[in-house]
Amino acid sequence: MTGAPGMNIVVVGAGYVGLVCGACFAQWGNRVTCVDIDADRIRRLNAGDVPIHEPGLEPLIAANVRAGRLFFTDRCDDARATQAVVQAVVIAVDTPPGADGRPDRSAVLAAASGAVAVFGERTVVAVKSTVPVGTCGAVREAVAQALAKQGGAAPPAGTFAGTFDVVSNPEFLREGRAVDDFMHPHRVVIGADGDAGRDVMCELYRPLAAQGVAFVHTSSAGAELIKYGANAFLAARVGLVNEIADLCEALELDIGEVAAGIGLDPRIGAEFLRPGPGFGGSCFPKDTLGLLAAARGRDVALPILESVVRSNEARKQGLAERVRRALGGLSGKTVAVLGLAFKAGTDDVRCSPALDLVAGLLQGGAVVKAFDPAAMGHLRRLLHGVEYCTGALEAAAGADALVVHTDWREFAALDWRRVKSAMRGAVVYDFRNLCEAARMRELGFHYFPVGGAPLAPDKG
Ligand SMILES: NC(=O)c1ccc[n+]([C@@H]2O[C@H](COP(=O)([O-])OP(=O)(O)OC[C@H]3O[C@@H](n4cnc5c(N)ncnc54)[C@H](O)[C@@H]3O)[C@@H](O)[C@H]2O)c1
Repeated sequence: MTGAPGMNIVVVGAGYVGLVCGACFAQWGNRVTCVDIDADRIRRLNAGDVPIHEPGLEPLIAANVRAGRLFFTDRCDDARATQAVVQAVVIAVDTPPGADGRPDRSAVLAAASGAVAVFGERTVVAVKSTVPVGTCGAVREAVAQALAKQGGAAPPAGTFAGTFDVVSNPEFLREGRAVDDFMHPHRVVIGADGDAGRDVMCELYRPLAAQGVAFVHTSSAGAELIKYGANAFLAARVGLVNEIADLCEALELDIGEVAAGIGLDPRIGAEFLRPGPGFGGSCFPKDTLGLLAAARGRDVALPILESVVRSNEARKQGLAERVRRALGGLSGKTVAVLGLAFKAGTDDVRCSPALDLVAGLLQGGAVVKAFDPAAMGHLRRLLHGVEYCTGALEAAAGADALVVHTDWREFAALDWRRVKSAMRGAVVYDFRNLCEAARMRELGFHYFPVGGAPLAPDKG
């Protein structure tokens, strides 16, 4: 790529975000060290084994390791060995929700304080993790204290004053298409409280500026809220289309047609108007709760967002009940579940609606056979009592009902005639509307789409 910045960067946290941004920064010509406290993860990465499923990531990592631009270590101070002067430390550690819904930002603070070991004379700490408003200020304090222990001094915000600056640089990539999203984002948000950090971030993202990508420059607090605000909007959109889909079912209308008609309004737009089993994953559930907790802390009511969270929770809790109604009971029935990840293209099962679906099916007395092209390993650790299968046909064998949970394209492309002969029953509940309804009916399935009328098998 042209306009390569050639900077020295440390990325702390080698998960979905850290690995993707680390590999992409390296691809732009920077020297990048990814640091993670999970020694096993680092051992696997150093052995050439990429621990997450993300299209295009494995070859990107391999190419940049081979080119001598990408390194992995479980000790931040090791980064010193490969990086002479570190210009940017990018924090991409997890921020899981605490008991009260507030994100636990202790890993962010620990990662930033630990990173002082690699500080050069002018190092920017860029917080990419999704964090509550004000976290950059807390990071500044934590880093200052860590420096003080080393006998260093903290500069005023927005200046290097010979040491460091802290900026917010929220990430908007989507799992399943993360590399493409990172390389071709809709915008880059840089939240800086002065010129020092902002200039370094502009230099780091120069390849994207050269592509004409929009840059949003704001304060660190503004950037922190942009990330939460964006996820609140997206979650609300999912919730609303799911509710309209429910109404379509009651009115025997087709959500596909209705959503297409709604989405043609440019104020609404056609994207993200597909109904499904409810939102899951590591971001929307956590970030909606995080924003609600932050608002509560400021005595601000967010009743719309509260309803979105409640509506989504109710939807996930009701998935097994939908299958029970379609089957006329669960006890003693065998149900095949296709897809466990919260969406296609990823092995991430964090807060996946599949967890609620499978738990509900098991609770109702069903035998559950499950298959996912990428997420089996993770789910095996989380859900017991499930018969895990090596393919969709194996899952379908002897099943009374089959549920399509995740929108993997290969499920749409299945040989549904073979699936039908493998099954004992004929019920298919398609939470993603992946299958062609008329074809399913023709093949003799009793087909339940989401947001549409069920189709009884074609008798002719
Ligand atoms: N996953 C997404 O799609 C996505 C998108 C945008 C933003 N985000 C945000 O980015 C952040 C990271 O998300 P993720 O999905 O990559 O998480 P993840 O759980 O996949 O990865 C986090 C990694 O950080 C490591 N870690 C934790 N504490 C550490 C420390 N002190 N030092 C070094 N490593 C440490 C963990 O071992 C783990 O490997 C979160 O705040 C998330 O909300 C995620």
